[in-house]
Amino acid sequence: MDDAELERLLRNERYPRSAGYSVRWMVDGAMGPNTLWQAEALAEHVSLEPGMRVLDMGCGTASSSIFLAKEFGVEVWATDLWVRPEENLRRVIEAEVEAQVHPIHAEAHALPYAENFFDALVSIGAYHYFGTDDLYLGYFSRFVKPGSQIGIVQPGPVEEYEVFPPPHLEPYWKWDFCAWHSPTWWRRHWEKTGLVAVEVADQLPHSWHDWLQWNDACDLDAGTPNREEAQMLRADNGRTLGLSRVIAHRTS
Ligand SMILES: C[S@@+](CC[C@H](N)C(=O)[O-])C[C@H]1O[C@@H](n2cnc3c(N)ncnc32)[C@H](O)[C@@H]1O
Repeated sequence: MDDAELERLLRNERYPRSAGYSVRWMVDGAMGPNTLWQAEALAEHVSLEPGMRVLDMGCGTASSSIFLAKEFGVEVWATDLWVRPEENLRRVIEAEVEAQVHPIHAEAHALPYAENFFDALVSIGAYHYFGTDDLYLGYFSRFVKPGSQIGIVQPGPVEEYEVFPPPHLEPYWKWDFCAWHSPTWWRRHWEKTGLVAVEVADQLPHSWHDWLQWNDACDLDAGTPNREEAQMLRADNGRTLGLSRVIAHRTS
């Protein structure tokens, strides 16, 4: 597919900042639902000022880290387990933000940072891999200054499912979707620690639609239209699935 067609398929007025980036670059770095759109949605509620130190936890190919550095002038520690930091450094240098984005290889439970080092913590499409344990927030939140914000966004149903797999999604269900949780679940999961005050816990508006738009474009571009995840989103038809966004600030 040529870039003009990809551009047409990915036009989305909800994300004007993301529209300034090459769609080919976005697709080349894809590891899940569009990470720039999600970063832009987080930034609606996470205050980001030039010079702030931001942890992008589970950054994958660091597209969101590059985006946050360019858009908000923040300094980002692009931290990931599966993607080699050398690979992310290459992308960071190509994007000309090597003074602002630092690729780090680390496991989410063994972070090489000082407590209170960051002005904000963000995590896109990743927190559910390591953060559903009741005790994880107590570890993670210590890296942000008291009063500062933590923002995450990842797939989740609008409400918790009563039955697993949910009957209408059974043909597509993978066992690890059990880590997909609703905004209300996340709110309680964080609030019960007493360590943070949750400011926003919602299903990102239009996120089902955006997710499907993204998958359809990526699938077509790869020459494999309507792959299984897109089929699942179509079967759900916006009934349950979307992206759960949670934003809180550290209280203690
Ligand atoms: C689906 S990818 C999303 C990547 C990127 N944030 C995005 O939106 O495209 C999930 C990322 O979480 C990271 N991850 C999963 N488990 C992790 C862990 N235990 N510690 C650190 N990173 C982890 C992986 O390395 C992977 O890059």
